[in-house]
Amino acid sequence: MRIAIYPGSFDPVTKGHLDIIERAAGLFDKLIVVVLTNPAKTPVFSVEERVSYIRRIVEKLDNVETDCFDGLLADYVKLKGAGAIVKGLRAMSDFEYEFQMALTNKQLNPEMETLFLITSAEYMYLSSSIVRQLASFGADISRFIPDEIRDIIVERLRKAGK
Ligand code: COA
Repeated sequence: MRIAIYPGSFDPVTKGHLDIIERAAGLFDKLIVVVLTNPAKTPVFSVEERVSYIRRIVEKLDNVETDCFDGLLADYVKLKGAGAIVKGLRAMSDFEYEFQMALTNKQLNPEMETLFLITSAEYMYLSSSIVRQLASFGADISRFIPDEIRDIIVERLRKAGK
């Protein structure tokens, strides 16, 4: 069975992430979307919230699972017996950082590959923090957040004053 991992902080998951999930799910027998910690970021949503939002939007995809892990991505890949991780590449500005992460992960786990899917053009400039900022100013975020979770995210950000 070919298993791939789609890692991220997903704070929150967006339509840009969903685009990568749907396309990657078509390439592997199983795709695991995993919420990990990026030590450089202070998330607004708890791990449980982020996992529950992802679960809701991947319900219709039979070969996609959602998980969380508090450790190194390279270790998680080994734990799950996966051969690859999938990442979305947006603009060129993503490249240097992704390159560094891919090479570091390869050092930690030589058996894993990092595959990049080019983000669909409409989501090229999307990020979770942009969505949070738009919502905080009361802008309509329905173009960026899947319908199933839009209202709960708007409400949650309003409560948090973000
Ligand atoms: N559509 C829309 N937005 C996208 C996107 C897409 N296809 N792909 C990425 N983004 C956004 C993300 O939402 C994120 O936005 P933000 O900066 O506003 O939060 C941004 O682009 C960066 O995404 P990504 O590169 O996936 O970083 P991340 O912080 O979400 O995830 C981890 C990084 C969690 C995977 C990484 O820190 C990690 O592996 N942590 C575990 C510890 C570890 O192993 N460390 C060693 C790594 S070498």
